Amino acid sequence: MTDLRINVDANRVYRELDELATFNDAEIPAVTRVLYTPVDLKARAFLKRLCADAGLTVREDPIGNLFARWAGSEPNLPAVGTGSHTDALPFAGRYDGTVGVLGGLAAIRALQTARFRPRRSIELLMFTSEEPTRFGLGCVGSRGLCGALPPDKLANLRDKEDQRLDDLRLAAGFRGDLVGVRLPANYYSAFVELHIEQGPVLERENLPIGIVTAIAAPAALRMTIEGEGGHAGAVLMPQRRDALCAAAEIILAVEAAAKATGSSDTVATTGICRVHPGAVNSVPSQVYLEIDVRDVRLEPRDQVVKAIRNAADDVSQRRGVKIAIEMFNADPPATMAASVVSAAEAACKQLGLTYKRMVSRAYHDTLFMARLCETGMIFIPCRAGVSHRPDEYAAPEAIGRGVEVLALTLARLSAD
Ligand code: HGY
Ligand code: MN
Ligand code: MN
Repeated sequence: MTDLRINVDANRVYRELDELATFNDAEIPAVTRVLYTPVDLKARAFLKRLCADAGLTVREDPIGNLFARWAGSEPNLPAVGTGSHTDALPFAGRYDGTVGVLGGLAAIRALQTARFRPRRSIELLMFTSEEPTRFGLGCVGSRGLCGALPPDKLANLRDKEDQRLDDLRLAAGFRGDLVGVRLPANYYSAFVELHIEQGPVLERENLPIGIVTAIAAPAALRMTIEGEGGHAGAVLMPQRRDALCAAAEIILAVEAAAKATGSSDTVATTGICRVHPGAVNSVPSQVYLEIDVRDVRLEPRDQVVKAIRNAADDVSQRRGVKIAIEMFNADPPATMAASVVSAAEAACKQLGLTYKRMVSRAYHDTLFMARLCETGMIFIPCRAGVSHRPDEYAAPEAIGRGVEVLALTLARLSAD
């Protein structure tokens, strides 16, 4: 393996990332690409064409997970997977996820050009819907692959317009029984995802590569606060049961609880706040909140969830509002496999690249692939650690280095 010399065409990856960004429902540099929308389907068609041009065998499963396989010399062995997502939440950037999909394809091309012959097949994946934008739940595609979302739960996920996933996927042209989404045991021997760090550490420490050791555990709460509406001029302050004032106290309690755990990895965000009726001269009668809580360890994360519930009880009593809380999602964290971590480290050493072992505070499809096989992640720096914003940026040379490390990691994993 150590004699394998690969040559990555980083500028080609960059051009493809720019072309992929044109399939977009926002104004460049912002990118919005939501599951099953026309721009999502155009992006998929573009990717399928690139994979076919690379001689890969392409298939899609009943919900749109895309697989592009490079057959190994022993094609019946469990394969080695790589990949990420191409969906983008509203007004995000063009590198989150896409670097792992087009970078994974570039790694395969580089190995093909170097006349490497994998023993195990190498398969590129594009996971359908990593972002929670459409159904409020992240990683729908990889949850389906590992069985964390069984067919009936998958079918009945509902978007904001109350449309079911099953109807939407059929309307988008995806066929087949949802039972076929879950992968059989031993389908993959290993999976590794290339991704921008979405944090400032690598750039701050001037490091080209991060090797992920663990992925934070996300939890999501949904909260409805029922107060009493009325005329903004006529309802006097002592009589008010203002749902938005109650929500404001809870939003600040979410922030305080995350700061109070003592763990620097604890984060909590109230990312969605919908006010009803939403008129300047009408006292808010109902507010809907969605809250995201994470930590690499379960205890501090669950400590925050408990504190949020206590705060809601207190506000409800004091302000005479009714509060309903739904624990919409709570995933365990994932530890990366030593075999994949060491393969990525060996790749860095072979390339003479410095690297850092680190945790991922963002979640990724690898969080669920870890329930199917040995997994790992390779990070590259992004400017100022910015992500989920239009000014998200990763330099061509950073992407090129990430693809080189990925290619040599895949070579190692597919040879063993
Ligand atoms: O929210 C996340 O961590 C991921 O970017 N969807
Ligand atoms: Mn993201
Ligand atoms: Mn991502």
